[in-house]
Order: sequence, then structure tokens, then C-alpha cells
Amino acid sequence: MAEEAVLGFLENNDEIRDSGEFAKEKGFGHQEIFNVIKSLNGFQFVVAQDIKKERWQLTNEGKTYAANGSPEFQLFMAVPPEGISREALQKRLGDSVFKIGCQQAIKSKWVEMGKSQVSRKVPHVNDNVKDLLVKINNGEALNQEDMNALKRRKLISSQVWTGYSVKKGPKYAPTRKKPATDLTRENLQSGEWKELEFKGYNFSAKGLPTEGGYLHPLLKVRRQMQMIFLQMGFEEMPTNNYVESSFWNFDALFQPQQHPARDSHDTFFLREPSTTRMLPEDYVERVKQIHESGGHGSRGYGYDWKREEANKNLLRTHTTAVSSRMLYALAKKPFEAKKYYSIDRVFRNEAVDRTHLAEFHQIEGLICDRGLSLGDLQGVLHDFFSRLGMSKLRFKPAYNPYTEPSMEIFGYHEGLKKWVEVGNSGMFRPEMLLPMGLPEDVSVIAWGLSLERPTMILYGYNNIRDLFGHKVDLGLIKKNPICRIGLWH
Ligand code: PHE
Repeated sequence: MAEEAVLGFLENNDEIRDSGEFAKEKGFGHQEIFNVIKSLNGFQFVVAQDIKKERWQLTNEGKTYAANGSPEFQLFMAVPPEGISREALQKRLGDSVFKIGCQQAIKSKWVEMGKSQVSRKVPHVNDNVKDLLVKINNGEALNQEDMNALKRRKLISSQVWTGYSVKKGPKYAPTRKKPATDLTRENLQSGEWKELEFKGYNFSAKGLPTEGGYLHPLLKVRRQMQMIFLQMGFEEMPTNNYVESSFWNFDALFQPQQHPARDSHDTFFLREPSTTRMLPEDYVERVKQIHESGGHGSRGYGYDWKREEANKNLLRTHTTAVSSRMLYALAKKPFEAKKYYSIDRVFRNEAVDRTHLAEFHQIEGLICDRGLSLGDLQGVLHDFFSRLGMSKLRFKPAYNPYTEPSMEIFGYHEGLKKWVEVGNSGMFRPEMLLPMGLPEDVSVIAWGLSLERPTMILYGYNNIRDLFGHKVDLGLIKKNPICRIGLWH
């Protein structure tokens, strides 16, 4: 519309002298006309020349005087012919009108200020200032002296108005055709292509973002953890069974059957199938023995071990269940030192909050060899965690039924400037290893941590439910940058 108005006008006229007046005449907003001219100028349909005009506008103070009268006029009108006390006058007018009104009215010799009385000096006055302000508002010109007076009182301010004067350009046409963007089968067949004007290629335009597969942060960090284990010479354990028997999850790990973790408040038990079908019977017998009466120098727990309890199926509560299966398998063959790791899902019957879910991922590493000591465990933990960018570690004595000694691992987080708990570790007990049939001089050092915690630290999540589960925002997954190792920096 605006474009047609400009081009149409120039068809019969030499020039649009002032885009502002043109817009007013034709009933457009100036901004609209201005933008159209700018665009037509870019395509050489017209030649536009800037015009700048200084325009005067009322300030906020000026606007109130234009509406209510100048303070000096208000003051004069508030003084009755017989005079009035200063206080009464001030009260009637308010502080600011009174103050400014006094200054100006005295200057113009309109009123006389006595010690306490104010009285008129002239019978009547005109509100010149208000009249001038109204004129400015209507775009009328004033003489220089009046302008200066209003400027000095900061009742008006100038604004530069920009518009165009416009003439036909070298590519002028009464209408602008939208340039074609494609050579199509139809316009080739019809011959229309000869007349068409084609849009030039924009080689600096951004292409559409490519949509591909996106990796979830947990997958990225899992990959990094895997790489560290592989670089350190670890083999992956097969963790593809979420359902486990209590035997492998607890009993094989010398976790007594009355242990609170074996309660349904902490563990999800399976209803269907509720029990396991097969356990290695001779090994089960040795596990029963060690729980009930000990052996290999241990006193055991001294309780009545029940097979039914061991048979119960559950969702594994830790990947250490897999470690126990692996060590048992290892013990059946001539001994070979091994370094094993796993990263997979575990389940706990926990109240869900911002840092806990009923399912999460564990990272576990273990080394099985002759003559390993606690020093070896600390050494390998230093190696492992410094590859994650965390080289300051501290250990705190802890308790696990299957390790002795046990240590909680704390690492100094350089970014958060504090010590954070990063894992749990220990040396598997002889009560666990010897019934499996491992040689007496073989020790196993092991540690575990969650995958979620370092991922949250690394990707800046403070609610685990934003990372995992049905509340995850897929948009965030798509936008995730790749965070490189140096996890805790
Ligand atoms: N299984 C332990 C846990 O769930 C972690 C751990 C693994 C501790 C190996 C010691 C040795 O927290």
C-alpha cells in the first residue's frame, strides 16, 4: 500500500519533497513511508535524500503548564485583590508551583511579596507562557527571544526529525515485482523466465540448522568415563541384567539377610517372577556357611541363613552385583589378574527429590590381583580422578558390608571451591572372595560413584529431574554443548 503510493505518486510527479508531509497527506504513518522509501532506494527504484529538521517538543514540565497554566499565572490568580498570607498561598498552590510561581511573578512585577503578605501589583495579567507552549505543541513557529526564554526554563527540548525527499531512481517502475527465487518447470515451459527478474543469491545467509541425533549429557559423560577406563586398561563387565537375585546382589557380598537395605522400603522386589531359578549350589553352600558360622579366620554373623531370602528377585541396587558374578566366574579358572569396569543403571526405593531418583547409573571399577593393598587403591583412585580433572583427594573411613577397609572419597572441586563427596571404595572382604574360590593371596580393590552427580556438576544442572526422567526438556538436550574432560574444573 505505502509502496504503491510512493511509486504511483512519482509516476506523475517529479518529486516527493518531504516524506513527512507526504505521509500525512496520504494517510500513512511516517515510519511506514520512511521504511518503504529506504527499501525502494536500496533497489534503486527511487533516489532518496535525507532531510533533517529540528523540532521543538514540550518537556514534561512544559506539558503540565500547557495544560494547567504557568506557575506564575496560577500564583497570580490565587492572590485575591485584598492580598493573602504567604502560608495560605503556599498551601493552596503546593510547594513547587509556589516556589517557581513566586520567582517568575516577582520578576514580571505581577505581585508584591511583603514580610508575611502577598498582594497584586497589577489588576490583571495574561498567561503568555502557556500560550507559547500551546503554539509549540501545534507546530507553530516562535520568535527567537520567546524560544530562548522557554529553553532556559527547560520547558521545551529539541528533537531531530529525519525524513526523505524522493525522486525516481534509475530502475524506477510504477510497481515493484517481487523477484523470482527459482527457475521452475512452469516458467521455463511458458517462456515467462525471459521476463522474470531473479533474486540474487545471498551467499552469507545462514543455512538451516542441521537436525541429527543428539546425545543426552549422561551419554556424553558415560562415554568420557568409558574412555578413561579403557585408557587405564580396564575391561567392561556385562551389566545387561537389571533383574538380579538377592543372592548375587547381597548374599554373595556378605551382606547379612537382616540388613536394612534388604527391606522392601529400600529395594524393589519382583512379583513376577519372584524368585530365581538357578544358583550355583556348591557356592551357595559356602556362602551360607560363611554367613552362619564363618570360616577362613572369620566368625561369620551367627544367624540362620535362609535360602528363600537369597532366591528373591529384585531390581539390582548396585552394579557390585555384577562384580560379584564376575569375580565368581574368574575364581573358577586358573587365576589371572583383571581390571574390570561397568557403567549401568541401578534401582533404589527412594523418595524422589532434587538430587535423588529411584533409578540412576553407577560407575564401578575393580582390580583383582595378588598382593594389592590400600595404597594401591588410593593410587588408582588418584589416577582415575585426576583424569577427570580432580587431583586433590581425601579419604574418610566408611562402612560397607562387603569391603574392609572402606573409604568415602572426597575431591576438591576447583570450580565450587569446596570438597565434594565423589564416591565410595574399599577392599573386598575375604568373607566375600574366599568362598568364591579365589586364591588366598588375591585382593580386590574397588570403587563406585554415580554418573548423574558428575554430569550435573559438569552441565550445571541442580535438579536431577531436569536431567533424567519424564520432565527432561528435549530442547536443552539439543542445545547442550560438548563439555570436555576436566570434568570438575
Ligand atoms: N556398591 C557401592 C554403592 O552402591 C559402591 C562401591 C563399589 C563401594 C565398590 C565399594 C566398592 O555405593
